[in-house]
Amino acid sequence: MNTVVVGLQWGDEGKGKIIDYLCKDKDVIVRFQGGNNAGHTVVVNGKKFVFHLIPSGILHSGKICVIGKGVVIDPQILIEEIEYLKKEGVTVTPDNLRLSPYSHVIMPYHRVMDACREKQRIQKIGTTKRGIGPCYVDRVARCGIRMGDLINENRFSLKLKDNLKEKNPLFENVYGTKGFNYEEILNQYQEFAKILAPYVCDLVDIYYKEKDKRFLFEGAQGTFLDIDFGTYPFVTSSSTISSGATLGSGLSFVGVDEVLGISKAYTTRVGEGPFPTELNDDTGKYFQNKGNEFGATTGRPRRCGWLDLVLLRRAKILNNVKKIILTKLDILDELEGIKVCVDYKIDGKSIEQFPYDLTGVQPVYEVFAGWKENIANIRDYKQLPSAAKRYIEKIEDYLECEVAYVSVGQMRDAIIDKRK
Ligand code: GDP
Ligand code: IMO
Ligand code: MG
Repeated sequence: MNTVVVGLQWGDEGKGKIIDYLCKDKDVIVRFQGGNNAGHTVVVNGKKFVFHLIPSGILHSGKICVIGKGVVIDPQILIEEIEYLKKEGVTVTPDNLRLSPYSHVIMPYHRVMDACREKQRIQKIGTTKRGIGPCYVDRVARCGIRMGDLINENRFSLKLKDNLKEKNPLFENVYGTKGFNYEEILNQYQEFAKILAPYVCDLVDIYYKEKDKRFLFEGAQGTFLDIDFGTYPFVTSSSTISSGATLGSGLSFVGVDEVLGISKAYTTRVGEGPFPTELNDDTGKYFQNKGNEFGATTGRPRRCGWLDLVLLRRAKILNNVKKIILTKLDILDELEGIKVCVDYKIDGKSIEQFPYDLTGVQPVYEVFAGWKENIANIRDYKQLPSAAKRYIEKIEDYLECEVAYVSVGQMRDAIIDKRK
């Protein structure tokens, strides 16, 4: 069974925790898009791990973790992540971590370009400034440097020269910053290449040779940060929806057996862009504090709001989600009443179609009673307070989709398998 797991909102839905939980029944875990803009948190025995590039499955022994071609790799960050995990006693070797030669390399000029472009924009995106966008731009402009180039001195030096020839005048004359020194980057990246070369291998065959193995595809970001179907231009630069899993890995789409979608029991967003159910009041602050809603990558406070079922229905369709995993239900424990957005109004009229632009849409809410009870230790669905079950049933009825798991805490075991 090959499973794709994606975020259904604007990222940080708890993908890291859920991947860690699901991968016990899988053999190969694949990241297929994004880069170190992602921050996926896994808490095991009270110890917190935040993954930026390496699939969250790495904590389990006997699994193969793959960074697929759709990912953009900052080699320095990857090396730091490998070193950090090794220090924590986690095995990371070319046997259990593989990098696609087709994945693009984030260069120092990408990071600076990201910051410069963001600085001069009137309409800011609020990027993570990790160089993600500019690296993807170079991929389609056909001047990108890939892992397969990084580990080959001739190819790398030629491509670096070409890039600096084009980019240095831009930095100096347009952005008003310093250009980059060829030798410095060459030396630094050759060191990275030596360390990473053993991990690089062609991965396309893996889907054929290892076809008896069970694959898990770990999405990063979320549906509404998708480059095309997200709230453009306030999006990331990759295909975050489930179709991205095949494009970003090399597996044919017929190889996908199921798509699981992860949604928080409320909504959050980091960075700029429209957010219909956003709360700029005490309830928003409550979500932020109780849910510890601060970015795992940049530490920025996440904007918080009510659950938006109009958005989730769109995400269900875009991803072909068959089951939903609801996370952070425990964060709602203390609320008196819980609102759920069931419709949007534009100029006082209900929408007939999902709006092209979410700016200014008015959410229409249904209000549910809270349960005012601590649910963090519950592991049996039947034992959830009836108000919590009503909330979940509303989600299922509205989306015509089963909520298969309910997560009620940070820890690995804080999850309810609804079918048990
Ligand atoms: P990701 O990017 O989707 O992997 O999510 P992040 O790791 O950025 O953010 C999710 C945060 O919520 C992390 O700190 C998780 O440890 C935490 N978390 C995940 N599921 C739950 C849950 O059910 N309850 C609580 N209280 N925290 C959770
Ligand atoms: P995970 O995988 C939440 C957001 C940024 C910004 C926009 C573009 O942890 O869910 P970028 O640096 O990608 O060009 O920024 O996308 N963003 C995320 N928000 N979770 C993430 O990843 C994100 N990765 C990027 O905040 O609004
Ligand atoms: Mg995150």
